[in-house]
Amino acid sequence: MGDSGIENLLQESRTFPPPAAFASKAVGTADLYTEADEDFVAYWTRQAKERITWFKEPKQGLDDSNAPFFTWFQDGKLNISYNCLDRHLADGGDKVAYHWVGEPGDTRTITYRELSDEVNRFANGLLSLGIEKGDRVAIYMGMVPELTIAMLACARIGAPHSVIFGGFSAESIVDRVNDQEAKLLITCDGAWRRGTVVPLKENCDAAMESTPSVEHCIVFDRTGAKVSMSDGRDVWWHDLVAQQSTECEPESMNAEDLLFILYTSGTTAKPKGIMHTTGGYLTGAATTHALVFDLKPDSDVYWCAADIGWVTGHTYIVYGPLTNHTTSVMYEGTPDYPDKDRLWSIIEQYGVTIFYTAPTAIRAFMKWGVEYPQQHDLSSLRLLGTVGEPINPAAWMWYQENIGPKDCPIVDTWWQTETGGIMISPLPGVTTTKPGSATRPLPGIFAQVVDVEGDPVPLGGGGFLTITKPWPSMLRSIYGDDKRYISTYWERYPGAYFAGDGAKTDEDGDFWILGRVDDVMNISGHRISTMEVESALVSHPTVAEAAVVGATDDLTGQAIAAFVTLRGTATESDELLEELRDHVAMKIGAIAKPKTIIFTPDLPKTRSGKIMRRLLRDISDNRTLGDVTTLANAEVVAAIAEQSGGK
Ligand code: PRX
Repeated sequence: MGDSGIENLLQESRTFPPPAAFASKAVGTADLYTEADEDFVAYWTRQAKERITWFKEPKQGLDDSNAPFFTWFQDGKLNISYNCLDRHLADGGDKVAYHWVGEPGDTRTITYRELSDEVNRFANGLLSLGIEKGDRVAIYMGMVPELTIAMLACARIGAPHSVIFGGFSAESIVDRVNDQEAKLLITCDGAWRRGTVVPLKENCDAAMESTPSVEHCIVFDRTGAKVSMSDGRDVWWHDLVAQQSTECEPESMNAEDLLFILYTSGTTAKPKGIMHTTGGYLTGAATTHALVFDLKPDSDVYWCAADIGWVTGHTYIVYGPLTNHTTSVMYEGTPDYPDKDRLWSIIEQYGVTIFYTAPTAIRAFMKWGVEYPQQHDLSSLRLLGTVGEPINPAAWMWYQENIGPKDCPIVDTWWQTETGGIMISPLPGVTTTKPGSATRPLPGIFAQVVDVEGDPVPLGGGGFLTITKPWPSMLRSIYGDDKRYISTYWERYPGAYFAGDGAKTDEDGDFWILGRVDDVMNISGHRISTMEVESALVSHPTVAEAAVVGATDDLTGQAIAAFVTLRGTATESDELLEELRDHVAMKIGAIAKPKTIIFTPDLPKTRSGKIMRRLLRDISDNRTLGDVTTLANAEVVAAIAEQSGGK
C-alpha cells in the first residue's frame, strides 16, 4: 500500500457468536439494521417517540438544510429531568435509581422518588439564586449523588450545565468557566481519593479570582474539610435546599435547546466546548443504552464505572440509565482503595449484571492479578463493556475469561464526546464479536473508512474513520466557535464527519479502531498504528502494559519507541528486551520491531486513564517536556526520561 491508508498488520481470528440463551432474549435484534438502512430518519424518529415522553411530539425528523448545522426533532418540546424522573414515579418511584458507594465505605440507596425530590428542591434553590433558562452553570464535584442531582436540576430549569472533571486544576476551571461565561459554580468542599481529600473548594477559590462571570458558588459538604466561604458569594448546598419545596415545574424545552457543554481537548491547547442539545441527545442516549447493554430494567443492576466528568458518565451513568428507569451502581473512589478488589467486592455486594469500564482499567486489573477477582462471587454478571481506547485482544480475552461467566458477551463501544452516544459496537444478542474489534456501526449509524483523498478503502484496508450520515446525538457545534466546528470535523472530507481516528475493516466488514490519527506512526513510508504494536507487546506473557510512539529518526522518518510495564512476576533484562523485539517482529513483521524498548514501572496517564503519548514522544525525541500538570502520575515521567538518557 502507498501512503493512501494505514497498514493493516495485526490479524486476529478468534470469533465469539452470541450465546444462544442470550440471543433468544436480547433487546436489540437484527431487523433493526434493516429498518434503519431503509430509512434512518424514520428509524430514529420511531426511537424518539417510543423512548421519550414529549410535551409536544415532533413532526420533523432531520433538518439538513443548513449542514453541518444539523437539527433533529426541532419542533418537539420536552424536559429531560421529566423523562428521567417524573414519568417513572407513578408506578416506579420506589425503585432504586442508584446504589451509591462512597470511597470510605459509606453507602446510600436512592430511589427515583427521593432523587426526584432532591432534584426539585435543588432546582428551586437554583431559581432562588436567580439562575434562569439559558444561564450556564459549571459543576466541579466528585462522584457524589449531588453531582447527578445538580445536572438534572439544571436540565429541569433549562440552564445548560458544564461538568468539569474533579481531577482538573484551578487553571483548567478558569479556562472552561470563562469560555462559557458561567454564572454559577457548583462544587464540594472536597472529594475522597485514595483516603485523602482532594481540595475542590480550594481549587474553585483560586479559580474564582479570575472568573468574573461567576456570581455564586454552591458548596456541598462531602468530607467535612475546612473551607473558607466568601460572604454573599458562597452558599452551602444544605442551606440552599433547606426550605425549598419538592415541586418545581419542569421547563418546556425545545428539542434543539442546549443541554450541556462538555470540554474536550483537541490538537491545540484551547479545549473545545462540545455542545449537545436536548431531544436528539436524549434519543441517542436512551436508545443506545437500551440496545447495547441489552437492558432489562426490571432485573438488571447496571454499573458504568466511569466518572461523570467525562461524556461516558453523562450518557451512561446519568441520562441514558435514568431515562430507561435503570437501577445503577455509582462508586465514588478508585478501584484499588482500600485494596485492589474494591470493584469486585461491589459487584458481589449489589449483584451487578452489566459492567462497563475502560481498557486501561482492564490492563490494570491484569497487572494486579486474577487473585483479586477470584476472591469474589461475580456470577451475577451477564454482559461486559469497554470504552475509551482500542482494547488489546489479550486484555479482551482476559476480561472475558476472568470477569465474565463463560462466553460472556463483551461490547467494545467506539464513540466520542462529540458523538454523544455509542456509534460502533456489537449488539450483544446479534453480533459475533472479535477480540479488539468494535465490530459494526449501530442501526442508524453509517461509517466509512476512507483514504487521504476521501475515497472509500475496500474491505480489509486501513484509513480514516468517517461518519457519513447525521445522527440525533451528534454535537451541534463548538461553543462560541462555529468556524472551528466546521474546520475540525467537516472540512477534511466534505459531506462526512471526520472523527480524527484511524480505522481498518476486515473481510467481514467489521471495524477495528486504530486510535487517534496522531497516534499513527510513519515508518519508512508505512503508516503503522501505535496500537497494533502495543497489542503485540501486550500479548507477550511478561507484559502488563505498553505504549508506543514514533520517535524522529533520520533514516526511517520515524522509529518505533516502546515503553513497557512488566507483570509482577517478570524481571527486566537485556535478554527479555531482545525477546520482546522479536516477539513483535513475529506477531506483526520486522517493520514493526521497536527500535528501543524502555522498561518502566508505570506509564504517564491523564486522570481519565489515557496514555499521554505526546510526553513519550517528547522523551524519545529528547525535547523539553511539555505540560505535565494534567497527569495522574507526573512522577513517573522523570523516571522514564532518566532511563532513556533524555532530559
Ligand atoms: O480515539 C477514540 C477513543 O477515544 C476517543 C474519544 O475520546 P473521548 O471524546 O474522551 O470519549 C471517550 C469515551 C467515549 C475516540 O476518538 N475511543 C473511544 N472508544 C473507543 C476508542 N478507541 C477504540 N475503541 C473504542 N471502543
